[in-house]
Formats: sequence, C-alpha cells, structure tokens
Amino acid sequence: MEQLLQKIDGFKSEINNFIADKAEDAEAFRIKYLGTKGLVKEVMGEMKNVAAEQKREFGQRLNEFKLFVEAKYEELKSAAGTEPSENGLPKPDLSLPGDPLPMGSRHPISLVRNQIVSIFQRLGFAVAEGPEIEDDWHNFTALNMPENHTARDMQDTFYISQSPDWVLRTHTSSVQVREMEKGKLPIRIVCPGRVYRNETISARAHCFFHQVEGLYIAENVSFADLKQTLYFFVQEMFGKDFKVRFRPSYFPFTEPSAEMDISCLICDGSGCNVCKHTGWVEILGCGMVHPNLLENCGIDSKKYTGFAFGMGVERITMLKYQIKDLRLFSENDVRFLKQFTAAT
Ligand code: PHE
Repeated sequence: MEQLLQKIDGFKSEINNFIADKAEDAEAFRIKYLGTKGLVKEVMGEMKNVAAEQKREFGQRLNEFKLFVEAKYEELKSAAGTEPSENGLPKPDLSLPGDPLPMGSRHPISLVRNQIVSIFQRLGFAVAEGPEIEDDWHNFTALNMPENHTARDMQDTFYISQSPDWVLRTHTSSVQVREMEKGKLPIRIVCPGRVYRNETISARAHCFFHQVEGLYIAENVSFADLKQTLYFFVQEMFGKDFKVRFRPSYFPFTEPSAEMDISCLICDGSGCNVCKHTGWVEILGCGMVHPNLLENCGIDSKKYTGFAFGMGVERITMLKYQIKDLRLFSENDVRFLKQFTAAT
C-alpha cells in the first residue's frame, strides 16, 4: 500500500504543474487523469489488491486524490476559457444569454388596412388584388372614362414612358374591373392596394398611397344597402360617438355618387385645422355602379345593380391616430413606427 500511496504523491506534483492554454489542453488533462482509462480509474482498480484492514484508509486517500484531480480539472477548464485566445481577444463565454433582438412592429398603414379589410370580411366581402402597373382599359376606359374624358384629369397619372397604354394605377377600381370581367356573379369584394398619383409631396399629399375600394354587384342592390354597409363600417372603425353625412358628388364610374363625411373626431365638430373649420372630414367616395361599367364588363345592367366605394388608408389612419403629416408614413423613422400596436 505504501508503494501505491507514493505513486499517487508522485502524480500530484505532475498534476499541479499541468498548464492549460486552450480548452483542448484541459480536455487532454481530463482524458489522461479522469477518463475511463485514466490514472484515477487505474489506481482505484488497485483497491482489490489491498489488504482488508487497510482498505478503509486506502479508500479515503484515493477519494482525496480523486477530488484533487477533479478540482484541478475545473481550474484548468476555467483558466483555458478566460485566457486570451490566439487572436488576443478573450474567449467568449458561450453560457451567457445572447443580445436581445429588438422586436419589430407592424406599419400603421398595414394595421389599419387589415382592420378595414376585416370589417368588410365580416360582412361577407372577399379580398381581390391586381397589378400596380395597369393598362389604360382597366384604370380608365372600362370605368367610363374614355380617352380625352375630362375626368381623367381628376387623378394626375404617372405614365410608363415606353407605352402610353400603361400607367401606374391611380386607384384600385382597376381590380374591380378585372373581377367584373370574370363574369362570376354576385360579386362582393374589397380591393386593398397601393396606388400612385403625380402630386407634389406635402403634409397632405404623396405620390403614392394606399386604398381599400369595395364593390357589391347582385340583383336588387340599392343605395340603402350602400348606406347601411358604410354606416356599419364607420361605427366599427371609429366607435359610435360622431355624426355621419352623405354629400352628393361626382365620379364617372358611379351614378348617383356621394362622398361620406364624419364629424371631426379632433374638435368634435366645433371646427379646427384638421376639418378646415367645417366640423366635417371626408372619409370616402361611393355611389351606385354606372350601368356603362356593367355593360363594358359584359354584365347585364337590366338584371344587376351594384354599389362601389373607395377610401384612402392614410387618411383613415391619420384621423384614427391624429397624425398631422402624411410623410411620416414613408420616412421609416422607427421612433414613429414602433408606437403602433394591433388596432382593435
Ligand atoms: N376610385 C375613386 C378614387 O380613387 C374612389 C371611388 C371608388 C369612388 C368607388 C366611388 C366609388 O378616388
């Protein structure tokens, strides 16, 4: 037994002098001394050759030795971890939690567009989409605006220079034409999307913005249906504490046409800058689909009637959140954008 204990002491100084520069050194130490074929296992195996009355003492010494090796291993491991690595930088501590990733949020225009769409979906409207680069027929002619019609000037248009027949759509009414041409009736759709107009950029206007337009065509659709649908929409969108009015208006694609106003949410109708001191703000255009449109798209205007409406998402968003400058929506300043959470 004495011999064995001497052997252990001999190893102790060897172990004490062991230096680990890298994690691999500490691992080599573990294999050499603590591994399945390592020294500790080997000396433990000697236990069976020790006389019975010495087993207790020998066992104790062996245990101490094992603890000593294990402690040294822990020391080497942490030393190897914090020592500068080859590139001179401290080794990263892989057990630390990572840097948090900033959470993104939805753009206010997306939030409000989704909210508008979901209100109409509850009434049975489906979503239809179409191309942003449109031909003259779908953007103008089919909508009762033949070439040289003065109403084309209502919307300043971007033309594609290669061909006068192609435009950046000025409204999503073009999608309604595409749906009507499919000839599947009845039609009950909303068309959300980006539209373009050649306007000088200011706090109130931009060269692109977003719309949600709607179309309902079936037998016996009346102006009363239009009003009820839009009443429901504004109440869901803004709550119940305001007044609504319809004003006669003009659009080439609807007859009769109207614009819908709500009493100003900012001043409660008493007059402020937002409502230009009228107490009212316009929120959408609407009307009964002009029979020429139905015929242009191959729908029997004697049998079917319909209503259509269209609104700007930016305008609704500005009213809802009392935002005074349209340009904020496209400047991508996160301080502005992160203030909006899912609209209720
Ligand atoms: N297309 C019209 C616009 O962009 C809005 C509208 C749609 C008006 C449908 C009436 C009916 O201004």
